[in-house]
Amino acid sequence: MFHLLIFIGTRPEITKMAPVIRKIEQSKLKLTLIHSGQHYDYQMSKVFLEELNLNKVQENLEVGSGTQAEQTAKLIQNYEKMIIKYNPDIVLALGDTNSVVAAGIVCAKLNVPFGHIEAGIRSYDMTMPEEINRRLAGIAAAIHFAPTEQAVINLYYEGIDPKRIHLTGNTAVDATLEHSIIAKKKSQIISKLSIPKNKPLIVMTAHRPSNVENQENLKEICLALIELSEFSIVFSVHPRTKKSLEESKLIKELEKAEHIILSEPLGYLDFLMLMQESELILTDSGGLQEEAITLGKPCVTLRTNTERPETVKLGVNYLVGANRNRITKTVRMVYKSDEIKKKLKSIENPYGDGEASQRILDALIIHLEKDDLRFLEPKFFIRGSANYQLIKLDKEITRNKYEEENNGLVTLVYDLSGNPKPIPNKIPKGWIIRFQQF
Ligand code: UD1
Ligand code: UDP
Repeated sequence: MFHLLIFIGTRPEITKMAPVIRKIEQSKLKLTLIHSGQHYDYQMSKVFLEELNLNKVQENLEVGSGTQAEQTAKLIQNYEKMIIKYNPDIVLALGDTNSVVAAGIVCAKLNVPFGHIEAGIRSYDMTMPEEINRRLAGIAAAIHFAPTEQAVINLYYEGIDPKRIHLTGNTAVDATLEHSIIAKKKSQIISKLSIPKNKPLIVMTAHRPSNVENQENLKEICLALIELSEFSIVFSVHPRTKKSLEESKLIKELEKAEHIILSEPLGYLDFLMLMQESELILTDSGGLQEEAITLGKPCVTLRTNTERPETVKLGVNYLVGANRNRITKTVRMVYKSDEIKKKLKSIENPYGDGEASQRILDALIIHLEKDDLRFLEPKFFIRGSANYQLIKLDKEITRNKYEEENNGLVTLVYDLSGNPKPIPNKIPKGWIIRFQQF
């Protein structure tokens, strides 16, 4: 029986890892579940474990808060002890937090296979701690579960072996589809928060340091909220944001505005309920951009870039940064737009179909059975760098056949229009392949 160790640490890791944990629990695999303790308030951690029935957390490492380096260093030290203690066949972590990058670094150093879920998404914004974490986790991983085609292609460009990349969809979709139904049955949040019915509802969150720890940006965002008085706005306040709002006078201004309901961080079911009842989601969260489209809601994103470009390209998610005018103008435009509503009803969810966790489990088992995940020392490797050749195919051919006949690896493909694509099993005639000869 193979033994999997999963690290979780923050709110989004818990909600999105839950479907994977459930699949593993239903299988014959042995699971050790460890919480880093990066998030520790009841409303940031335990409420999710309870609501998602994750009652088998073996250890909580209580790493807590700190500077980026302090927290990451503590995580690394603690994780190493855990991996040595439990000796798993593979370690899994999901996303881009410090709890995830630490798992990658420790696994790579111990040469224990690390499976990265939600691999390959990129904002190309190295001022974000999460972008640094994503990239480092990508280098450390032995197997990559990519949520979108774009994520697969990003990993190809970073030189990752395509045979270690699996396009699975995002487990956020699995979790949202399953729990939004439960939320409708169980959550009382609409009456609990006394949300008025005569105004359209906006659900709002913000926690990126660039928004909430920059007082100018935080003020712009708060002024926009205050101005949008034709809406009811539920603002779920993250602990990082609370600290910052309290340090400034902004919390008083928000409290004075009758249309704004400030709330402590909400449990998953209550939050899903609120999102389902809303007309629009206003956020700088990564997970909420995925949940918005899954629930058929438009999103206005309080950032100037995103590692989740799919819904922006589809015209149902708008990047507005922290600019007061842009926020208010865009929120009003999106709310009024029938075209966006129509699109939301007809487009396919780019983040998946709700089966990501099953695909992850299936791919994992195949690799574990083949035992092909541990890093091996290259023997008599003198080239020192990977040389790629671009070749136009003069006939359709399967990837395996081409690789066998030419002794190498197809590492990227371009279709007839010159666009990069995930490598299909059968590569059509006329496509260009990037080939790495051994
Ligand atoms: C972290 C992740 C971020 C993710 C977010 C999800 C990193 C670098 N950042 O950001 O990618 O989107 O989680 O919410 O890993 N705090 C509490 N109680 C808690 C947790 C935090 O009061 O339970 C406060 C502490 O003052 C802490 C601050 O919030 O210093 C920030 O917490 P931290 O986990 O470092 O970063 P997040 O902003 O939560
Ligand atoms: N969430 C929640 N209650 C809240 C705010 C968020 O349950 O008050 C959930 C949300 O549904 C999603 C996850 O927390 O599943 C997203 O977390 P967050 O925005 O903190 O992190 P990010 O996705 O940006 O990394």
